[in-house]
Amino acid sequence: MSVRPHPRLATLAAPAPGGLEGPLVDRYGRVHDDLRISVTDRCNLRCVYCIPEDVTFLPRAELLSFEEIARLGRVARALGVTSVRLTGGEPLMRRNLVRLVAQLAEIGFSDLSLTTNATLLAPLAAPLAEAGLTRVNVSCDSLRPERFAAIRRRGDLATVLAAMDAAEAAGLTPLKVNVVVLRGENDDEVLDFARFARATGRVVRFIEFMPLDAGGHWERPRLVPGAEIASTIAAHFPLVPLEGSGAAPAERFAFADGLGEVGFISSVTQPFCGTCNRLRLTADGAIRNCLFSDDELSVRDVMRAGGSDEMLADVLRAAVGAKHPGHAINEPGFLAPRRSMSMIGG
Ligand code: 5AD
Ligand code: SF4
Repeated sequence: MSVRPHPRLATLAAPAPGGLEGPLVDRYGRVHDDLRISVTDRCNLRCVYCIPEDVTFLPRAELLSFEEIARLGRVARALGVTSVRLTGGEPLMRRNLVRLVAQLAEIGFSDLSLTTNATLLAPLAAPLAEAGLTRVNVSCDSLRPERFAAIRRRGDLATVLAAMDAAEAAGLTPLKVNVVVLRGENDDEVLDFARFARATGRVVRFIEFMPLDAGGHWERPRLVPGAEIASTIAAHFPLVPLEGSGAAPAERFAFADGLGEVGFISSVTQPFCGTCNRLRLTADGAIRNCLFSDDELSVRDVMRAGGSDEMLADVLRAAVGAKHPGHAINEPGFLAPRRSMSMIGG
């Protein structure tokens, strides 16, 4: 079968020729060495800020196979990607994920992590670590059982807390805990989470509510600015800024007395697009250069038409070449992306 270049390549910034050579540098000099891979759009929870109750998921055939994901992983590695994070939906909803972790670990990334709601994590923590996973980020928006259930609409807090222990016991550290803060819903727990970070040594990261919910319920007043949370915490527990690790979106702070760390992911009020180093692979095999841009290029179509690794590299380069300097959430006329976080992969 003859294979033509991806039909959208011509309409985007022309990729520099380069076969399987990196690095992936965009028009603004940002080097892309971090790939987020969504392995499924399915989730067993229905967090109010993410998935509506009546969601429809993708048919199985639309998802990339493990072999396809690993192939893209190898191409990305050749182009200089060193860090991979597996996301969903809920990545542990994908059967045999341990096998994919082993396949990716073999490629040799310096960091291979997983973002999970942890409802299914406890029994898998040790096998995942053995397969080569380095660490996990656990989403947990409340430390109060009823409220946890209200925000996430399913699942229970005790299971998630037990899974955090299991992950640490398996060596999946440092363990990070992601908290999406919603005005009037869990913003009164900020200090409890600070105490939790101090007591457990887990890095609690407060995330601003982003316009990425499939239900379209995002409204600016529901967002709690990271700076406001930081000052609430600092009034009780003095904070000292930590050196940021380059492209990491979280602004990191240590407690001044040395007991633990918190972070703030203020994507809306303090965008960190200028240092963005991320590319995303959606569960249905599209490369997306920004959470907030609906421009996608399918690598699945290229692979399933018999395309070469060089063609896949061209798609990655084209996606990077077309990347915008930043998102436009704060500009008039901003349209929320069509896909939710569960479809794109956090
Ligand atoms: N705004 C902010 N964070 C979100 N997440 C999912 N949807 C949203 C949203 N609309 C978070 C999850 C998880 C991470 C991948 O993204 O809670 O921690
Ligand atoms: Fe599932 Fe994560 Fe979305 Fe919650 S935020 S519904 S756990 S994918």
